[in-house]
Amino acid sequence: LSILVLHGPNLNLLGRREPGIYGSVTLGEINDRLEQEGQKLQAKVNALQSNHEGVLVDAIHDALGQHQGILINAGAYTHTSVALRDALTAVAIPTVEVHLSNIYQREAFRHHSFIAPVAIGQISGFGADSYRWGLQALVNHLRKLAS
Ligand code: DQA
Repeated sequence: LSILVLHGPNLNLLGRREPGIYGSVTLGEINDRLEQEGQKLQAKVNALQSNHEGVLVDAIHDALGQHQGILINAGAYTHTSVALRDALTAVAIPTVEVHLSNIYQREAFRHHSFIAPVAIGQISGFGADSYRWGLQALVNHLRKLAS
């Protein structure tokens, strides 16, 4: 099983960026933890961060035939990007959406996600654990599909 982990804009600044909201964990640490969790789940994890919408769209296209699942924190593109949602729909690769913060507790413009309707589900508000539990949920889902 191979999982593509996509991190959207500004997530490269994790650890330094609004630590009161996003915590002190860095993106490198999150990716390390995901790789370890992946080993436990016998899933290979490939992570990519980009601040550019088109790079993320390309990565979703390139996942076809390479990865069986996508774990995505689209950052602010969650709330703006029809293109990312359309790319996920086009490749039809099972996707779990995650957020460090609870987006429903924050500004109204963060309450809507273009990704959520095309995702299996969403985990929001648990900091770095959102990613870990998101990976577990995604792998469980894929194993159920395969059995
Ligand atoms: C975020 C929430 C988004 O609203 C925000 O734009 C981010 C991070 C989160 O992980 O909590 O960049 O996706």
